[in-house]
Amino acid sequence: MRLRHIPGCEQFVAESPSVVHDPMQYKGHWQEYFGNDHPVELEIGMGKGKFIRELSRRHPEINFLGLERYETVLMKAIKRKEQEELAEDASRKNLGFLCVDANLLPEIFAPGEVAKIYLNFSDPWPKTSHSQRRLTSPRFMKLYDQVLTKEGVVEFKTDNQGLFAWSLESIPESGWEIIYVTHDLHAQPEAAENVMTEYEEKFSGRGQKICKLIARR
Ligand SMILES: C[S@@+](CC[C@H](N)C(=O)[O-])C[C@H]1O[C@@H](n2cnc3c(N)ncnc32)[C@H](O)[C@@H]1O
Repeated sequence: MRLRHIPGCEQFVAESPSVVHDPMQYKGHWQEYFGNDHPVELEIGMGKGKFIRELSRRHPEINFLGLERYETVLMKAIKRKEQEELAEDASRKNLGFLCVDANLLPEIFAPGEVAKIYLNFSDPWPKTSHSQRRLTSPRFMKLYDQVLTKEGVVEFKTDNQGLFAWSLESIPESGWEIIYVTHDLHAQPEAAENVMTEYEEKFSGRGQKICKLIARR
Protein backbone atom coordinates (compact mmCIF):
# COMPACT_ATOMS: atom_id res chain seq x y z
CA MET A 1 0.00 0.00 0.00
CA ARG A 2 1.43 3.39 -1.01
CA LEU A 3 1.03 5.97 1.76
CA ARG A 4 0.99 9.71 1.38
CA HIS A 5 3.68 11.23 3.57
CA ILE A 6 2.39 13.84 6.00
CA PRO A 7 5.03 16.53 6.66
CA GLY A 8 5.95 16.71 10.34
CA CYS A 9 4.53 13.28 11.22
CA GLU A 10 7.92 11.96 12.46
CA GLN A 11 8.32 14.84 14.90
CA PHE A 12 4.69 14.61 15.99
CA VAL A 13 5.11 10.90 16.82
CA ALA A 14 8.52 11.45 18.43
CA GLU A 15 7.02 14.02 20.83
CA SER A 16 3.71 12.31 21.59
CA PRO A 17 3.09 11.15 25.18
CA SER A 18 0.75 8.46 23.75
CA VAL A 19 3.76 6.71 22.19
CA VAL A 20 6.14 4.39 24.02
CA HIS A 21 9.51 5.77 22.98
CA ASP A 22 12.43 3.32 22.99
CA PRO A 23 10.14 0.37 23.85
CA MET A 24 13.10 -2.02 24.18
CA GLN A 25 13.85 -0.50 27.59
CA TYR A 26 10.63 -2.12 28.88
CA LYS A 27 11.47 -5.67 27.78
CA GLY A 28 10.65 -7.80 30.83
CA HIS A 29 9.34 -4.69 32.69
CA TRP A 30 6.08 -3.67 31.00
CA GLN A 31 4.42 -3.46 34.42
CA GLU A 32 6.68 -0.45 35.06
CA TYR A 33 5.37 1.35 31.98
CA PHE A 34 1.73 0.74 32.93
CA GLY A 35 2.21 1.02 36.71
CA ASN A 36 0.40 -2.28 37.33
CA ASP A 37 0.74 -5.99 36.50
CA HIS A 38 -2.42 -6.37 34.41
CA PRO A 39 -2.16 -8.62 31.32
CA VAL A 40 -0.72 -7.02 28.19
CA GLU A 41 -2.47 -7.47 24.82
CA LEU A 42 -1.11 -6.31 21.46
CA GLU A 43 -2.63 -5.34 18.16
CA ILE A 44 -0.11 -5.65 15.34
CA GLY A 45 -0.75 -3.32 12.40
CA MET A 46 -3.42 -1.28 14.19
CA GLY A 47 -3.71 1.39 11.48
CA LYS A 48 -5.70 4.32 12.88
CA GLY A 49 -6.39 2.29 16.02
CA LYS A 50 -10.20 2.24 16.16
CA PHE A 51 -10.22 -1.36 17.46
CA ILE A 52 -7.65 -1.01 20.22
CA ARG A 53 -8.93 2.38 21.34
CA GLU A 54 -12.40 0.91 21.88
CA LEU A 55 -11.04 -2.26 23.51
CA SER A 56 -8.98 -0.21 25.98
CA ARG A 57 -12.08 1.82 26.84
CA ARG A 58 -14.14 -1.32 27.51
CA HIS A 59 -11.40 -3.11 29.48
CA PRO A 60 -9.55 -0.94 31.99
CA GLU A 61 -8.37 -4.17 33.67
CA ILE A 62 -6.18 -5.01 30.64
CA ASN A 63 -3.17 -3.13 29.26
CA PHE A 64 -3.11 -2.61 25.50
CA LEU A 65 -0.33 -1.79 23.08
CA GLY A 66 -0.95 -0.91 19.45
CA LEU A 67 1.90 -1.49 16.97
CA GLU A 68 2.00 0.46 13.72
CA ARG A 69 5.10 0.78 11.61
CA TYR A 70 4.25 3.99 9.73
CA GLU A 71 4.30 7.41 11.42
CA THR A 72 1.80 8.84 8.91
CA VAL A 73 -0.77 6.26 10.04
CA LEU A 74 0.19 6.33 13.72
CA MET A 75 -0.24 10.10 13.85
CA LYS A 76 -3.94 9.63 13.02
CA ALA A 77 -4.36 7.05 15.79
CA ILE A 78 -2.71 9.40 18.29
CA LYS A 79 -4.91 12.34 17.31
CA ARG A 80 -8.08 10.25 17.62
CA LYS A 81 -7.01 8.87 21.01
CA GLU A 82 -6.31 12.39 22.25
CA GLN A 83 -9.69 13.66 20.98
CA GLU A 84 -11.44 10.82 22.82
CA GLU A 85 -9.50 11.54 26.01
CA LEU A 86 -10.51 15.19 25.77
CA ALA A 87 -14.16 14.28 25.25
CA GLU A 88 -14.07 11.79 28.15
CA ASP A 89 -12.00 14.16 30.29
CA ALA A 90 -9.73 11.24 31.27
CA SER A 91 -6.47 9.87 29.94
CA ARG A 92 -6.43 6.25 28.72
CA LYS A 93 -3.59 4.98 30.92
CA ASN A 94 -4.00 1.37 29.78
CA LEU A 95 -3.19 2.14 26.13
CA GLY A 96 0.18 2.84 24.53
CA PHE A 97 1.28 3.04 20.89
CA LEU A 98 4.52 1.74 19.41
CA CYS A 99 5.99 2.88 16.11
CA VAL A 100 7.78 -0.36 15.30
CA ASP A 101 7.75 -3.28 12.91
CA ALA A 102 6.42 -6.60 14.20
CA ASN A 103 9.77 -8.17 13.31
CA LEU A 104 11.13 -6.59 16.49
CA LEU A 105 8.70 -8.29 18.90
CA PRO A 106 11.29 -10.49 20.69
CA GLU A 107 13.46 -7.43 21.28
CA ILE A 108 10.57 -5.61 22.96
CA PHE A 109 8.94 -8.38 24.99
CA ALA A 110 10.40 -11.08 27.21
CA PRO A 111 9.12 -14.66 26.83
CA GLY A 112 5.58 -14.96 28.24
CA GLU A 113 5.02 -11.21 28.55
CA VAL A 114 2.10 -10.92 26.11
CA ALA A 115 -1.33 -12.44 26.85
CA LYS A 116 -2.94 -11.99 23.44
CA ILE A 117 -2.09 -10.81 19.93
CA TYR A 118 -4.68 -9.34 17.56
CA LEU A 119 -4.11 -9.29 13.81
CA ASN A 120 -6.85 -7.32 12.08
CA PHE A 121 -7.15 -7.04 8.30
CA SER A 122 -3.42 -7.60 7.89
CA ASP A 123 -1.86 -6.77 4.53
CA PRO A 124 -2.46 -9.84 2.29
CA TRP A 125 0.85 -9.84 0.35
CA PRO A 126 -0.77 -11.81 -2.52
CA LYS A 127 2.46 -12.76 -4.35
CA THR A 128 3.72 -16.21 -3.30
CA SER A 129 7.25 -14.83 -3.17
CA HIS A 130 6.06 -12.40 -0.44
CA SER A 131 4.24 -15.00 1.68
CA GLN A 132 6.75 -14.70 4.54
CA ARG A 133 5.69 -11.05 4.96
CA ARG A 134 2.15 -12.13 5.87
CA LEU A 135 1.56 -11.63 9.60
CA THR A 136 0.12 -15.18 9.84
CA SER A 137 3.18 -16.74 8.17
CA PRO A 138 5.34 -19.33 9.97
CA ARG A 139 8.05 -16.67 10.35
CA PHE A 140 5.75 -14.37 12.35
CA MET A 141 4.01 -17.21 14.25
CA LYS A 142 7.48 -18.13 15.54
CA LEU A 143 7.92 -14.58 16.87
CA TYR A 144 4.50 -14.69 18.56
CA ASP A 145 5.49 -18.02 20.14
CA GLN A 146 8.51 -16.29 21.67
CA VAL A 147 6.55 -13.57 23.47
CA LEU A 148 3.13 -15.04 24.33
CA THR A 149 2.20 -16.57 27.70
CA LYS A 150 1.68 -20.34 27.76
CA GLU A 151 -2.09 -19.93 27.31
CA GLY A 152 -1.65 -16.94 24.96
CA VAL A 153 -3.69 -16.77 21.76
CA VAL A 154 -3.58 -15.07 18.37
CA GLU A 155 -6.89 -13.69 17.07
CA PHE A 156 -7.03 -12.94 13.35
CA LYS A 157 -9.82 -11.21 11.40
CA THR A 158 -9.91 -10.53 7.68
CA ASP A 159 -12.24 -10.09 4.72
CA ASN A 160 -9.59 -11.64 2.43
CA GLN A 161 -10.72 -15.19 1.63
CA GLY A 162 -7.40 -16.14 0.01
CA LEU A 163 -5.30 -15.00 2.96
CA PHE A 164 -7.74 -16.67 5.38
CA ALA A 165 -7.64 -20.03 3.54
CA TRP A 166 -3.84 -19.86 3.39
CA SER A 167 -3.65 -19.02 7.13
CA LEU A 168 -5.97 -21.92 8.04
CA GLU A 169 -3.38 -24.24 6.47
CA SER A 170 -0.13 -22.51 7.39
CA ILE A 171 -0.90 -21.81 11.07
CA PRO A 172 -1.34 -25.52 12.01
CA GLU A 173 1.76 -26.31 9.92
CA SER A 174 3.62 -23.95 12.28
CA GLY A 175 2.56 -26.17 15.22
CA TRP A 176 -0.45 -24.11 16.35
CA GLU A 177 -3.99 -25.35 16.99
CA ILE A 178 -6.96 -23.45 15.58
CA ILE A 179 -9.56 -23.35 18.35
CA TYR A 180 -12.16 -21.11 16.69
CA VAL A 181 -13.03 -20.44 13.08
CA THR A 182 -15.86 -18.70 11.25
CA HIS A 183 -16.24 -17.49 7.67
CA ASP A 184 -19.04 -15.10 8.66
CA LEU A 185 -18.30 -13.52 12.03
CA HIS A 186 -21.11 -10.98 11.89
CA ALA A 187 -23.71 -13.77 11.57
CA GLN A 188 -22.53 -15.44 14.80
CA PRO A 189 -23.97 -14.75 18.29
CA GLU A 190 -20.46 -13.78 19.50
CA ALA A 191 -20.57 -10.82 17.09
CA ALA A 192 -22.45 -8.98 19.86
CA GLU A 193 -19.11 -8.59 21.66
CA ASN A 194 -17.14 -7.91 18.48
CA VAL A 195 -15.22 -4.63 18.26
CA MET A 196 -15.03 -3.46 14.65
CA THR A 197 -11.88 -2.08 13.07
CA GLU A 198 -11.79 0.68 10.43
CA TYR A 199 -11.30 -1.88 7.64
CA GLU A 200 -13.97 -4.15 9.06
CA GLU A 201 -16.54 -1.34 8.98
CA LYS A 202 -15.58 -0.49 5.43
CA PHE A 203 -15.65 -4.04 4.04
CA SER A 204 -18.68 -5.31 5.95
CA GLY A 205 -20.49 -2.11 4.89
CA ARG A 206 -19.95 -3.28 1.29
CA GLY A 207 -21.52 -6.66 2.13
CA GLN A 208 -18.24 -8.59 2.42
CA LYS A 209 -18.16 -11.41 4.96
CA ILE A 210 -15.66 -11.21 7.80
CA CYS A 211 -13.60 -14.30 8.67
CA LYS A 212 -12.08 -14.90 12.09
CA LEU A 213 -9.84 -17.53 13.67
CA ILE A 214 -8.25 -17.97 17.07
CA ALA A 215 -5.05 -20.01 17.42
CA ARG A 216 -3.05 -21.26 20.40
CA ARG A 217 -0.01 -23.50 20.79
C1 LIG B 1 -4.67 -3.05 6.09
S1 LIG B 1 -4.22 -2.09 7.45
C2 LIG B 1 -5.40 -2.58 8.71
C3 LIG B 1 -5.52 -1.57 9.82
C4 LIG B 1 -6.42 -1.96 11.01
N1 LIG B 1 -5.88 -3.13 11.69
C5 LIG B 1 -7.85 -2.19 10.58
O1 LIG B 1 -8.28 -3.36 10.60
O2 LIG B 1 -8.53 -1.22 10.26
C6 LIG B 1 -2.74 -2.89 7.98
C7 LIG B 1 -1.84 -2.02 8.83
O3 LIG B 1 -0.80 -2.83 9.36
C8 LIG B 1 0.43 -2.13 9.31
N2 LIG B 1 1.51 -3.17 9.25
C9 LIG B 1 1.68 -4.06 8.26
N3 LIG B 1 2.72 -4.86 8.52
C10 LIG B 1 3.22 -4.46 9.72
C11 LIG B 1 4.32 -4.89 10.52
N4 LIG B 1 5.13 -5.87 10.11
N5 LIG B 1 4.56 -4.25 11.69
C12 LIG B 1 3.75 -3.22 12.09
N6 LIG B 1 2.70 -2.76 11.36
C13 LIG B 1 2.43 -3.37 10.19
C14 LIG B 1 0.32 -1.29 8.05
O4 LIG B 1 1.18 -0.17 8.08
C15 LIG B 1 -1.16 -0.90 8.07
O5 LIG B 1 -1.37 0.33 8.74
